[in-house]
Amino acid sequence: MMRHILIAAFLGLLTACATPPAVPTPQDVIVIAHRGASGERPEHTLEAYRLAIAQGADFIEPDLVMSSDGVLMARHDPWLSDSTDIAARPEFAGRKRTLTGPEGETLTDWWAFDFTAAELKTLRAKQVRDGRSKSYDGLYEIPTFDEIIALATREGAARGRVVGLYPETKWPTEHTAAGLDMAGALVAALTAAGLDGADAPVFIQSFEPEILKTLSRRIETPLVQLVYPEGWQPGAPANIPLAEIATYAQGAGPYKSLLMGPETGAPTGYAAEAKALGLSVHTWTFRDDDKPAWAATPEDEIRAALAAGATGIFTDFPATGVRATQVP
Ligand code: G3P
Ligand code: CA
Repeated sequence: MMRHILIAAFLGLLTACATPPAVPTPQDVIVIAHRGASGERPEHTLEAYRLAIAQGADFIEPDLVMSSDGVLMARHDPWLSDSTDIAARPEFAGRKRTLTGPEGETLTDWWAFDFTAAELKTLRAKQVRDGRSKSYDGLYEIPTFDEIIALATREGAARGRVVGLYPETKWPTEHTAAGLDMAGALVAALTAAGLDGADAPVFIQSFEPEILKTLSRRIETPLVQLVYPEGWQPGAPANIPLAEIATYAQGAGPYKSLLMGPETGAPTGYAAEAKALGLSVHTWTFRDDDKPAWAATPEDEIRAALAAGATGIFTDFPATGVRATQVP
């Protein structure tokens, strides 16, 4: 497998990027396992990441939250009822509470940062999306970020290739309000693993610019700003301009409709503008069980993203991503 060489070439391109190619060829593109192979296993479990690696993903993506005792753990959301069995645990019944989220929404639930890592470890993960197998529900723990780093290192070594990490900081402002230093914990974990250099096979992503700006002063690891159409309105510009992103990050992570017309899959010009600023373009999220009508197959949708200039794709089905990005 040549993917480790390709990743190194990609990272070299990212840092050099004086003359990025106008259109990436498939071998320049990275496949990011979105929440692991989350189409086939409960998301953000070691088993979901392990399957993604076996399927050939270049990077595995842990979304990160923190426990009350400061441990980074993999969950898409800090609330726990959607992705774990906490609602069925009588010992935690009295610990539900109401919080306001980043967009002003209120939610009554159990919150990761109210529980110790040891308590979170007693929970078991479950499938979050309708229409997917629930046969693995109740089997797997919530992994810590350290366990995920160890898995990527171990599995990569066993396969003779590099398995990259693509952590996302979730709800950093709310973690700060809870007295938790997400940036500090992330820097400490990556530094301890020797993954704090500009050439490390790691991208750190966030929807919140402030934590990326903080990280840009504390670590050399490439940073990716996640963006979406303003107000989630079709055709609206991105919520953060590319020129601003280029002042503190090395990549943009656009929702796919910024890159391709949602009704046609035609390029919008977004990626070309990003590349002119020296930014990589990693777009999300591709799902075999949720493709647009204009694409005949899930692979077609991914290939349209490449044609629109994506240099990386997040997918719940890494085997499909690998197939779609292979050189013919
Ligand atoms: O991180 C890329 C993409 O995963 C952002 O969306 O909500 O799945 O974390 P989300
Ligand atoms: Ca994510």
